[in-house]
Amino acid sequence: MAREKTALITGVTGQDGSYLSELLLSKGYRVFGVQRRASLPNTARVDHLYENTENSRFSMLYGDLSDSSNLSRILATVRPDEIYNLGAQSHVGVSFDTPEYTANVNALGPLRLLEIIRHLDFPVRYYQASSSEMFGKVLETPQKETTPFNPQSPYAASKVFAFNVTKLYRTGYDLFASNGILFNHESPRRGLNFVTRKITLGLARVKLGLQPSLHLGNLDAKRDWGASQDYVEAIWRILQHNQPDDFVIATGENHTVRAFAEEAARHLGMDIEWKGSGVNETGVDRKSGKTVIEVDARYFRPNEVDTLLGDSSKARKLLGWKPKITFKKLAELMVAEDLTYAEREAELHSRIVYQPKAAGYGQNIPQRKTRRNKN
Ligand code: NAP
Ligand code: GDD
Repeated sequence: MAREKTALITGVTGQDGSYLSELLLSKGYRVFGVQRRASLPNTARVDHLYENTENSRFSMLYGDLSDSSNLSRILATVRPDEIYNLGAQSHVGVSFDTPEYTANVNALGPLRLLEIIRHLDFPVRYYQASSSEMFGKVLETPQKETTPFNPQSPYAASKVFAFNVTKLYRTGYDLFASNGILFNHESPRRGLNFVTRKITLGLARVKLGLQPSLHLGNLDAKRDWGASQDYVEAIWRILQHNQPDDFVIATGENHTVRAFAEEAARHLGMDIEWKGSGVNETGVDRKSGKTVIEVDARYFRPNEVDTLLGDSSKARKLLGWKPKITFKKLAELMVAEDLTYAEREAELHSRIVYQPKAAGYGQNIPQRKTRRNKN
């Protein structure tokens, strides 16, 4: 009987970490995830794996990519066959506010892991979560493995460092270390402050009267959006390939933020008409006449990546991978989940009873009318 493979996933509590855990468990792996300590629970995306007793093959360990000694102990204890380094400060906008932290986790984190792996007494296959953001202000379209990088943010610069050390440890120390250069991929589990999820949840909340409108930044940015569920399959295939290598993973189609918003709105029964321009542009629902989207300069970035479009022919040919979920289907799936989420929130709101003024407090418990993500 074949030996059960063991995988270690950093970033297991994130979007990709949760889908990848499900995929590996379905393939019979023993899966260990690295979880950061947080003051509130951060395991919502993987709680169902714990709760399912059949998944006694899923465990979590506390750790952090900024802490070498702890990573070293985890690797020595788990002795994984495969390491998927998905952990990162993954928000491009936030990286302008936290550049040093972003570099520590995203650039030095992979270096720490690779240094530890280099000294292990057993073989390990290492996956680095590299990003299309490294192409930045693109020097060629579409972008493929040979396209030069031109990073435009501390996040992208940190990922270029990680990409390079992964390659360097492969060539210099003969490690099985591969990069997946993944273009944007989304899902109902996407973090709330990435633009697609912000749109699907925001418009669902607007529809139900939970917030007056949705505030967005650059509506004209174009991204090659795929689905996380499809992309974790590519991540796994990259480590099963007969040799370590670098692969672009993309759909080969791109759309503007504006187009994603129109598509999401359509699934909510809204029909967006754009009015005005620049920071004065608004999206008005033709059916209700309500302004549902407003441009807000707070969401502009110091440097913008205007357009990304990937050419994943190498992965399609060598790994036999191709995406299944289309742009339209992705928007539909995300809206459906977020409408349910917003309906639950509306139900909770309807149950909140205003408290009479309590002595010593002098304030009614406020009903929160709006929720604005910082990014
Ligand atoms: P995500 O949802 O933001 O998840 C990031 C994960 O990293 C979370 O589990 C987070 O933990 C963890 N993390 C953050 N700081 C850490 C630290 N100091 N030590 C250990 N873990 C830490 O991101 P994702 O969308 O799943 O993306 C996964 C990876 O792929 C990231 O490296 C991202 O940069 C890269 N990537 C993503 C895309 C995309 O479009 N999604 C495209 C290309 C590359 P908490 O849950 O505690 O925050
Ligand atoms: N987040 C956000 N919020 N982005 C907005 C907004 C807004 O209100 N309005 C417009 N945008 C624009 C951004 O300026 C950017 O051009 C585009 O929407 C996509 O932004 P994000 O969804 O935040 O993703 P990203 O492309 O910056 O980064 C994601 O993809 C990378 C791969 O290319 C992240 O997942 C990175 O971790 C990943 O590496």
